[in-house]
Amino acid sequence: MADLLTIADLHVDYAGRPAVQGVSLTLRRGEILGLVGESGSGKTTLCSAITNVLPAGARVRAAEMRFDGRELSELSYEEMRRIRASRIGLVPQRPMTSLSPSSPVLRQLRWYHDGSDLADLLGQVGLKAVIDRPRDYPHRFSGGQLQRLLVVLAALARKPDLLIADEPTTTLDATVQAQVLRLLLDLRDRLGLAMLYVTHDLAVVAQICDRIGVMYSGRLVESGTVDQIFNAPRHPYTQALLAALPGRTRPGQRLGTIPGDVHRDVSGRAAGCAFASRCPVAFARCHEEDPRPIVTGADVVRCHRAEEKE
Ligand SMILES: Nc1ncnc2c1ncn2[C@@H]1O[C@H](COP(=O)(O)OP(=O)(O)O)[C@@H](O)[C@H]1O
Ligand SMILES: [Mg+2]
Repeated sequence: MADLLTIADLHVDYAGRPAVQGVSLTLRRGEILGLVGESGSGKTTLCSAITNVLPAGARVRAAEMRFDGRELSELSYEEMRRIRASRIGLVPQRPMTSLSPSSPVLRQLRWYHDGSDLADLLGQVGLKAVIDRPRDYPHRFSGGQLQRLLVVLAALARKPDLLIADEPTTTLDATVQAQVLRLLLDLRDRLGLAMLYVTHDLAVVAQICDRIGVMYSGRLVESGTVDQIFNAPRHPYTQALLAALPGRTRPGQRLGTIPGDVHRDVSGRAAGCAFASRCPVAFARCHEEDPRPIVTGADVVRCHRAEEKE
């Protein structure tokens, strides 16, 4: 499978404060990469950088950000807008901000997709109400309904090559979540869609993803196949996350939090590996030097211990 998205050494700062630090990843066509990590680890910032929707004041630099053979940073605003409108779909973390409040939901859906299959697709995710209530505005629907609508909107309406979904099922109950996940898998199979899927829920990851990326303090500390990450995690943070899960892949299981703080030096600046002060196997070098990502094929691990074992 050809690489659809390649990111190398991506950094994002907000007013000089680093939020994403040296992330490298690749995504192939038809592949679903699950991105996990505790709140504040930089997942939304990474999604926003790829889709160029970072707030004013954010600064981005990357050695490479290539989408289907084109370097994204070289595109004009207008070209990027066109790609986002047609080829990269984004399901944002907050649904209320993406639909216009001043037109009926069904009419907004028809702007993007006027196919006769719309009713059928909406039915598949429990949204027949949108067809039955053609004159209802967004505020008449629940948060869960709107979140499902956004998946439909981003995934179907535009038939993108890449769908970036930022915690799209976090606020949904288990039944609705299962419907959305089925829809996403179906779309992947039918359209060959690649997906970057951000979630707290490891059961979801195990269910729909091919590969997993683990974020910690702005870094992608490890990525690998679902099998590799669940059965042979290499980074101590990934190991701690999995060890903190009693049932491992019980539905609705959220990521455990690991006690302690991100490591800082006397001046308050982060020094060495961000995980060092919480890491059970840290040694002197971990407190002095931030490990560089070790890339093997599509996978990465960012840890001095793992480096020793290479
Ligand atoms: N608009 C913003 N302005 C300044 N700092 C931000 C902004 N958005 C996020 N951050 C900071 O960037 C870091 C990463 O945040 P975010 O990407 O939202 O993480 P996640 O999605 O994993 O919870 C956090 O420290 C957060 O406080
Ligand atoms: Mg987020």
